[in-house]
Amino acid sequence: MILEGKKITVGITGGFTAYKAADIIGWLKSAGAQVQVAMTASACQLMSPLMLQVLSGNPVATEVMDSSGRWKASPHIALAECDLYILLPATANILAKAAHGIADEIVSASLVANHAPVLCFPSMNVHMYENPATQSNLQLLQQRGWTVVAQSSGRLVDDAQIETAIMEFFRRSQRLEGKKVIVSAGPTYEFIDSVSFVGTRGSGKMGYAVAEAAAAAGAEVVLVAGPVALGDPHGIRVKHVVSAAEMEAAIAEEYGDADIVIMAAAVADYRPQQAVDHKLKKGLAQRQLDMVLTPDILAGLGRQKGGRLLVGFAAETDNLEQYAKGKLAEKNLDLVLANNVSQEGAGFDVDTNILTAVTADNIEYFPKMSKKAAAEQIIALVAELLDQRDK
Ligand code: PMT
Repeated sequence: MILEGKKITVGITGGFTAYKAADIIGWLKSAGAQVQVAMTASACQLMSPLMLQVLSGNPVATEVMDSSGRWKASPHIALAECDLYILLPATANILAKAAHGIADEIVSASLVANHAPVLCFPSMNVHMYENPATQSNLQLLQQRGWTVVAQSSGRLVDDAQIETAIMEFFRRSQRLEGKKVIVSAGPTYEFIDSVSFVGTRGSGKMGYAVAEAAAAAGAEVVLVAGPVALGDPHGIRVKHVVSAAEMEAAIAEEYGDADIVIMAAAVADYRPQQAVDHKLKKGLAQRQLDMVLTPDILAGLGRQKGGRLLVGFAAETDNLEQYAKGKLAEKNLDLVLANNVSQEGAGFDVDTNILTAVTADNIEYFPKMSKKAAAEQIIALVAELLDQRDK
């Protein structure tokens, strides 16, 4: 059973549908999950913590400061140690607090401490739901990776939809279980002398999102990142590199037991033939720089592919499909994600992308979406390709 042994925290806030959480906790327990519960003061007015203690089989946290000794760590820290955090029901108030990092009671404090994915089920009056502040808080939380399951009226979805969302989350979180995935991200810099370089554009956002989506699908992920200004994602092994040659070497070290490689990096195609180890003196009115090709990392991996699944990106400004198909064949790939980098909201630096997914027998067009959402689509496609292959 997919929920067997899963550690789930349920945060209950003061919406009138708080009683629904009791049904869901009972269902989670009967499906074999370990459930911890946190309740705000308003939730406690609507429903007895004791009832939920009996249902969950665990003490219920109602205060950040708890001197009862029932928790191994502080309650908000203990609650944050879970595979999934369910917020049910989620009021406008808790969404506002979570969006802005306020931690003034047990549910909001445990959300600030939480690293696990969050499934959020809003429940409120339609005007509160439609309020621009609530909508922008929801948007912000979704951008940070929360999954929100809501009705446009603001009313809580029904039990069956809540159960489906939870099952679907765990199904997704196991899609790449047991697989090792290498993801590359960011630009590469190719040095001219000790201070100057030629390089590519690239913030690393696309590759980092792919790495996080692969980890969320249960894979062991190695992220090989060129020079970017992003912090290392939680729970992912990151190898920092600068040049194409360093990226090639870092990937080669991991390739032996890898199952999947996804190259989102914008690798420089050329490097200066000779890099000098000191600062070149200014003076000449003109200087010539001889450039040579860098290794085509992905093409090299394609030549020693074995049973691996290889995914490339294609940064193009025209003839997307034609060039993507060309790269698919030339580099021996299973999937190419083409982005038109001259299109607004696609490609370098921005938070969104517009991708065309090209495989040997199919072309799929994705609308403009956040890089995070695009990364999830990519991982879903990769999982499908693996399934097809294993059939
Ligand atoms: O980092 P962001 O700001 O989020 O931007 C994302 C992105 C635009 C960089 C990304 O979506 C993207 O398109 N990455 C690939 C860019 C690129 O180098 O495309 P290409 O068509 O030149 O290369 C094709 C494939 O071969 C790519 O997977 C590339 O990683 C790989 N390659 C290219 C050259 C090289 N020497 N070695 C390689 O492995």
